[in-house]
Amino acid sequence: MSDMPTRRDVLAGMAGLLVGGAAASASAQSFGSPSSRRKPAVTFAHLTDIHVKPEDGAADGMVKALRHAQVHPSRPAFMVNGGDAIFDALAVSPERAHALWKLWGETLAMNKAMPMRHCIGNHDIYGWNKTKSGAAGTEPYYGKQWAMEAYQLESPYYSFGFGGWHFIVLDSCFPTGRPDGFVYRPLLDQEQFEWLRGELASVPEATPICVISHVPIVSACALFYGPPQDPDAPWPYLPLLVHLDARRIKDLFARHKNVKVCVSGHIHLVEALEYNGVSYYCNGAVCGDLWRGAHQDCQPGYAIVKLYDDGTSECEYVPWQS
Ligand SMILES: [Fe+2]
Repeated sequence: MSDMPTRRDVLAGMAGLLVGGAAASASAQSFGSPSSRRKPAVTFAHLTDIHVKPEDGAADGMVKALRHAQVHPSRPAFMVNGGDAIFDALAVSPERAHALWKLWGETLAMNKAMPMRHCIGNHDIYGWNKTKSGAAGTEPYYGKQWAMEAYQLESPYYSFGFGGWHFIVLDSCFPTGRPDGFVYRPLLDQEQFEWLRGELASVPEATPICVISHVPIVSACALFYGPPQDPDAPWPYLPLLVHLDARRIKDLFARHKNVKVCVSGHIHLVEALEYNGVSYYCNGAVCGDLWRGAHQDCQPGYAIVKLYDDGTSECEYVPWQS
């Protein structure tokens, strides 16, 4: 017997919140040439960069965002946690990391009425900043292990099928070996790249593919991250913001024309762009500017991603405070 609320309980509690204004200040983007007879195949809510913590009203905000997304009029079938669920595990003590994962788990359990898929973000990784975390690197929960347990993942990258689409969830971050500063680099190691190559080869050409990663594979908004640029040292954070191996990933995608959509987070900015037949949606951040309101041009929000049977898509960014 469990004290946990049922899906019906949670949805009933949300009914009063039914989000009349959900789409009022949303922005939608779409690419491709939809056929006049296309049918909706999958709709999911993409909540990325929640960064929950005990301070700054973050847990209350997480609850509101979860409830907002699950009663969205588009009726998502499931949610995707795009990574960076907590703030932060890279550079804190194990006691602090434990408190954060506990807060995440309890808040999610009380407010989740539909399945959620998880993608690992850089801030979910424990201890890589050894200077600040004090981690030795030999702890059993070091690195991605803690996040994998919190997300109940057997592998940091995986795939699944839903509604006639094939979904591939990637693991974007690998250690630089530095004790502080730039402790990770966004890329796929060779093992994961080979797995991705095999995965794409195994999916029938008629099945459209949606790739989910924490760090964007292709992004323009990454150029605006951080303070105004010093013209002599532009874009100092760019090596942390976009997949460093984007060229070989987009070349791989070019050999599999059924790769249609990539969704990501990480930048806390919203964009939709198309490159070489693939729609890249970078979907802001639930926490905005780490629970201090909007991050530059981006309100705290999540995305509703609509995938159609002809491989086309739409992505709507929904500020959850509206
Ligand atoms: Fe983040």
